Amino acid sequence: MTALSAPRGAANARILGLGAYRPARVVPNSEVVEAIDSSDEWIQQRSGIKSRRFASPEETVQMMSVAASRTALERAGLSAAQVDCVVVATISHLLQLPAVAPAIAHELGTEGAAAFDISAACAGFCHGVALAADMVRGGSARHVLVIGVERLTDIVDFSDRGTAFIFADGAGAAVVGPSDEPGVGPVVWGSDGEQFDYIRQREDWRDVIGTDDAPGSGIMPHLTMQGNEVFRWASFAMAKVAQQALDAAGIGVDDLDLFVPHQANMRITDAMARSMKLPEHVRIARDVAEQGNTSAASIPLALDRLVQDGDARSGDTALLVGFGAGLSYAAQVVIVP
Ligand code: UT7
Repeated sequence: MTALSAPRGAANARILGLGAYRPARVVPNSEVVEAIDSSDEWIQQRSGIKSRRFASPEETVQMMSVAASRTALERAGLSAAQVDCVVVATISHLLQLPAVAPAIAHELGTEGAAAFDISAACAGFCHGVALAADMVRGGSARHVLVIGVERLTDIVDFSDRGTAFIFADGAGAAVVGPSDEPGVGPVVWGSDGEQFDYIRQREDWRDVIGTDDAPGSGIMPHLTMQGNEVFRWASFAMAKVAQQALDAAGIGVDDLDLFVPHQANMRITDAMARSMKLPEHVRIARDVAEQGNTSAASIPLALDRLVQDGDARSGDTALLVGFGAGLSYAAQVVIVP
């Protein structure tokens, strides 16, 4: 049998640079309450959200991704030509095909980098970081750009009381590359497809479009969520996953500097922190208050805010926990670039 060359990667991987793009338009609770018969007080009390960002027509999935990626590359000290692979986590690129990643890779100026989208909703960014670290260590790429991006305003029904005040738009990006020391801990990930319907696109595309014999609804299939069930799952099960990610990285809560869970709801973040018994010194990401829930973009946006506000420093340990539709989850400890 002919022997093949074995792939050879770097000993370790880490995040080399982070970038974020927040749409310019700030939308306070007062702008969304009327259509859902709600109040600023109710929204703040139930979710911790005070305002969010909504994208303008020019702030497309591609535009926001490119902006966040340029910042991440600049901070990593790399050019687009050095990127071997672009992984885009999103649920709001509204073409079934092709993926948005090749267009982003092209606009950035990569030299034909491998590029593909992944669909793991709010857990998408952590899935992307796990894949990227494995690619760098496995030898299939030296530098991987991981993007979490959403324009959820395109798929939210603004008359739906359960979702209209939560979801928002934005993009975050991280460049993952080789490192002397381990900078991305082992991923703890999984899914519970029994709860497939808890967060989903309401109608199948075929029901929207229809056939010659049976016309479809013609109505945009919006996002729908059984908030209560998801809330319970996230608050209890995700604290265990977070602890498993710490164990897998070989550290305890006392060694942790930052806790950056998916920015779904401030009460979920607080429930997880309580259940993990996080010590006082651990800084907790609370970006949801000003950014809303941006699904795949929420973790890189929240981590970037901690860095920009001076609450996170280079070399800090950060626990990332993504969870959402699927139901899917992924968590890992990373070192802040
Ligand atoms: O990102 C992916 C993962 N997603 C999540 O993790 C989201 C998880 N879920 C949640 O964050 C929460 O379930 C929500 C914030 C969506 C809702 O909060 P909740 O505390 O679960 O509210 P609820 O659905 O249990 O409703 C409580 C009450 C009800 O009234 P009664 O029956 O107690 O009289 C609702 O009718 O609040 C009422 N209500 C509202 N009132 C004002 C429901 N929606 C609204 C609203 N404004 N928008």
